[in-house]
Amino acid sequence: MMIASEIATLRETVQQWKRDRLRVGFVPTMGALHEGHISLVRQALQACDRVIVSIFVNPTQFNDPTDLAAYPRTEHADGRLLHAAGAHMLYTPDAASMYPSGFSTTVHVSGLSEGLCGAFRPGHFDGMATVVTKLLIQTQADCAFFGEKDFQQLQIVRRLVTDLDIPTEIVPCATWREADDLAMSSRNRRLTAQGRETAARLPAAMRTAAAALAGGSAVGTVLATLRATLEQAGFEPVEYAELREAADLQPQGIVTDGCRLLVAAWIDGVRLIDNMPVSLR
Ligand code: PAF
Repeated sequence: MMIASEIATLRETVQQWKRDRLRVGFVPTMGALHEGHISLVRQALQACDRVIVSIFVNPTQFNDPTDLAAYPRTEHADGRLLHAAGAHMLYTPDAASMYPSGFSTTVHVSGLSEGLCGAFRPGHFDGMATVVTKLLIQTQADCAFFGEKDFQQLQIVRRLVTDLDIPTEIVPCATWREADDLAMSSRNRRLTAQGRETAARLPAAMRTAAAALAGGSAVGTVLATLRATLEQAGFEPVEYAELREAADLQPQGIVTDGCRLLVAAWIDGVRLIDNMPVSLR
């Protein structure tokens, strides 16, 4: 596996791959890799001839400096995992090359960025959209693979690629889960043993709510029960527990095909997010 930290090296390599008519896949990450990331790499390897994985802990998408400082960094283990998975290139730009002095451009996707996580993490989606735009332009990838766990992020990226005519196909990938159904996340490793045990009650409560919604129960009642269940389990705060239309993320008062149940809640000082599809039985 080749390791590049310079944009010039990345570009030269990708240009050669394109001259050789190879299909280039891209998996953007912030490192602290787990099996969920590796599943994205495997899907990319199935669909593409060459796969680039980036690791860049993007400072502009952290609205809280303590969260940025606490973000796990496991470069050596990440490199070993990617090598074993068969990635062709690890791209590790540094902050000075991504945001050189005088950098003044922000990509803002209005509407989609505003509610849900956007309401609780001001500036997060602008930072994410800006760095993803840069990474897609830098890698010139034919396809980029994004996990559905960050569902709002996925929809924002789809929108910006369409709006900015970026010729990269965005491939959504199913959320990878632990044996007890907790969605895999780099943040899970910050949970205490007790917090980790409680965390599994998040997907369990969401599945109960999704089943009630699919069975025709009133949306407001189900969401209020879900919130109360999580609070009783020890989640504090529950930032949101909402039913949204999947593509445009508009609030849904009734269940229709293509709805998504989305939750963000804190346990043990760690912010967890999860989402799942809901449709009428
Ligand atoms: O999902 C992530 O890990 C990040 O938001 C991403 C897409 C790598 C951009 O920094």
